[in-house]
Amino acid sequence: MIITIDGPAGSGKSTAARLLAKTLGIAYLDTGATYRALTLAAMQRELNLADEAALADLAGRLDLHMEPAETGTVVVLNGQDVSAEIRTAEVTDKAHHAADSPAVRAVLVTLQRRIGEELARRSGGVVAEGRDQGSVVFPDADVKFYLDASPEVRARRRYEEMAARGEDVSLQQVLEAIRRRDQRDRSRPAGPLVRPPGAIEIDTSDMTVEQMVSELLRWVRRAR
Ligand code: DC
Repeated sequence: MIITIDGPAGSGKSTAARLLAKTLGIAYLDTGATYRALTLAAMQRELNLADEAALADLAGRLDLHMEPAETGTVVVLNGQDVSAEIRTAEVTDKAHHAADSPAVRAVLVTLQRRIGEELARRSGGVVAEGRDQGSVVFPDADVKFYLDASPEVRARRRYEEMAARGEDVSLQQVLEAIRRRDQRDRSRPAGPLVRPPGAIEIDTSDMTVEQMVSELLRWVRRAR
């Protein structure tokens, strides 16, 4: 069984995808981690992130492993656990170079499909989460979700996560960053954030995590 969850930053999709996979006893695939890991690998090599050909070439040679863990996914790049490093504000800010490049996306989409299919074979299913999972990577998925929430609610969620990690940001800064990312995510020429045809759309603005997961489960059970 392949389930896709797409949506903008802060829509709750990562938490929902992880918990849905855990409840169903299937695998979870965080595809944003592939764009983040590539960005980090390029930064480590001091590559010019605007050099699409170099970035796509590096994507094709990426030594990347993703292992499921209780808290999400352990991401191993060149044998090193980079799970925390790929989530820093710097990588988050720079990941758009990789995400905006059609040449890079072609490589990473193939990689995501291979990892997703392998995980599904091993675990009986996968919940793949990102921006283009239902539209591009797994267009024949069994169940597709599109999660959304108002920009203000999404900014508050992100702000609380960042504040809990001790990062020094204001709610206003986070809201502005969310609006910029939305604009980029929705307007990129390849793999833009869209509601995939046939996706179940859920507004998570007023939902707790528990409500979100039980709503997703209800739809998955109905589809089975
Ligand atoms: O979901 P995230 O914040 O970890 O995503 C990191 C970056 O990768 C962000 O710029 C959006 C992009 N992304 C994408 O373009 N397609 C995906 N399937 C997943 C993430």
